[in-house]
Amino acid sequence: MSNIIIYGSHYGTTKQYAKELSRRTNIEAISFENVKEINNYDKIIYLGGLYAGGVLGMTKTLKKLNKISNKTIILVTIGLSDPTDEKNINNIRNNIKSQIQKEIFEKAKIFHLRGGIDYSKLNFVHKTMMKLLYNAVKNVPNEKQTAENRAMIETYNKKVDFIDFSGLDKIINEI
Ligand SMILES: Cc1cc2nc3c(=O)[nH]c(=O)nc-3n(C[C@H](O)[C@H](O)[C@H](O)COP(=O)(O)O)c2cc1C
Repeated sequence: MSNIIIYGSHYGTTKQYAKELSRRTNIEAISFENVKEINNYDKIIYLGGLYAGGVLGMTKTLKKLNKISNKTIILVTIGLSDPTDEKNINNIRNNIKSQIQKEIFEKAKIFHLRGGIDYSKLNFVHKTMMKLLYNAVKNVPNEKQTAENRAMIETYNKKVDFIDFSGLDKIINEI
């Protein structure tokens, strides 16, 4: 039985979760860019940073997956928004549903963790995206904000770290 942890991470928070999960489970962790043949694995744990609703690298990686009936698939998103907020979870799951094959979505166990952000490290495109988004939603009353926008407004232009490895426990139980 061959297992793999695959991660999609721009700024390292997802990679930190993946490496810690790897350490605790003894399953190798690699970046999605280095996956050679995904169909060789029976158990696939995919961790991806959330970028404008997408899970970094997930669609590209899982597209090549076939014959999933005997496989275990675990998907983990890492974002800034509150991963315990029901509406936020629904949002993320609906996005995932539209980004992968139906059979994979139905088979996958999905988890949500919180990452972090450091605006001083963002590339130009990401900084611009956040600025546009911030300007578009900053004047909406707090009670009308989505969890995603609220998290973005609260952390705008800052350095925040919400990484909490205890969130990995439930994923390890599932593995
Ligand atoms: C351009 C951009 C878009 C983002 N979109 C989302 C989002 O839709 N939902 C969310 O919860 N977090 C969003 N984030 C926050 C990232 O998901 C968060 O910083 C995460 O920890 C990044 O993972 P990484 O460090 O592994 O790249 C966004 C961040 C950037 C820079």
